[in-house]
Amino acid sequence: MISDNMIKKLNYQINREIYSGYFYLGMAYYAASIGLKGFANWFHCQAKEEYEHAGKIADYVTQQGARVMLGAIEEPPQDFSSGPGLFQRTLEHEEKVTGLINGLVVVAKSEGDKDTEQFLQWFVKEQIEEEATPTRILGKIKTLGAEGLSKIDAQLSARK
Ligand code: FEO
Repeated sequence: MISDNMIKKLNYQINREIYSGYFYLGMAYYAASIGLKGFANWFHCQAKEEYEHAGKIADYVTQQGARVMLGAIEEPPQDFSSGPGLFQRTLEHEEKVTGLINGLVVVAKSEGDKDTEQFLQWFVKEQIEEEATPTRILGKIKTLGAEGLSKIDAQLSARK
């Protein structure tokens, strides 16, 4: 049986995933404000994905017969200064999220909670992708430089 402690921690992770969505939504609107429509599209898609992550955990908590408790979401950063900088912030943010997911796995393991440990494996794999994608985009930005920004913007507009 899942512990109250595990439920509390999963509820906190729901909060962090929703915050992540809010974090990326702010980036999407910043990108739109500086005319980077493709960047804006990418961050809107990313925000949507974060809400799906939150939903996945919320469904699991519910399935376990526990209650989803939604907490307050703090204001996301507003101090952006360039399109490319958004991907550095993305990478740093995802590294923090990976740390949180790994922390949940440690708790599940220490409590002998095999179901939750197994459930979290999807997130462990997802975090590999969540870090790899901004790393790849940052690499492109570095390679193509400022002149290549419109090309990258066009590529980012393809995300669905
Ligand atoms: Fe839900 Fe970007 O991790």
